[in-house]
Amino acid sequence: MFELSSETRVSELQAESPAMMAALISTGIFHDGDNQDVSIAELCWDFGLNPLILLNALARARAAEAPSNIDVSELDGLTLTQVVENIESSHHVYLRETMPEIGELIDRVVDAHGASDDRLTEVQALFEKMSADLENHMLHEEEALFPMVRDMEADGAIKPTRCGDAVGGPIACMENDHKLVQEELGHLCELTDDYAVPENACMTYRKMLEQLGRFGQNTVVHIHKEDKVLFPGALKAQAALRAGG
Ligand SMILES: [Fe+2]
Ligand SMILES: [Fe+2]
Repeated sequence: MFELSSETRVSELQAESPAMMAALISTGIFHDGDNQDVSIAELCWDFGLNPLILLNALARARAAEAPSNIDVSELDGLTLTQVVENIESSHHVYLRETMPEIGELIDRVVDAHGASDDRLTEVQALFEKMSADLENHMLHEEEALFPMVRDMEADGAIKPTRCGDAVGGPIACMENDHKLVQEELGHLCELTDDYAVPENACMTYRKMLEQLGRFGQNTVVHIHKEDKVLFPGALKAQAALRAGG
């Protein structure tokens, strides 16, 4: 099984994960076409970089990478309006119900154990930011993109919203937001060791990790449904309307 370490060679990163390769190239210390037989330790040595910094960045990119085996077959055969309804009921409602509950659990765990574990306060700050980011993001979808999709199917035309009268603009925004949330989720996995429960953890701590794990999983599926089904479907529907009009 693949294990990331300073001995890992670039060729192994290439075979294992496009996201880790992209993260490596974005550092500027490795370029397409360079010798892939070099290890992370050797690369860092040549550039005077601490390997731990690079390893952290690579681990974060890998955690944020969407798994390829997400099953969204429940959306097969649905209209775009029904896809929007599925997303709202399975993900937006879920997030609005659970984010405040999880925030409260985190606050309680930080009060009890924060002094002895710095990572808990980082989890608290990160989750607060994610909650705010996701709430803004959902509002934007519900006020711009989702009505546009419903209009296209119901009326064959888009009524202008605060984001104009075409789906491309909001979709570009949403995709950027998704990338940010994926990075934040990667950081959350890193800070919680993939939601692993420490020995002797109290009930609240266990519940917090369990809920965070579920939140992470739900959000991965949520983003996948939008990026891979809703957005391409909306762009295609709009192109068909324009071609017909
Ligand atoms: Fe959404
Ligand atoms: Fe979204």
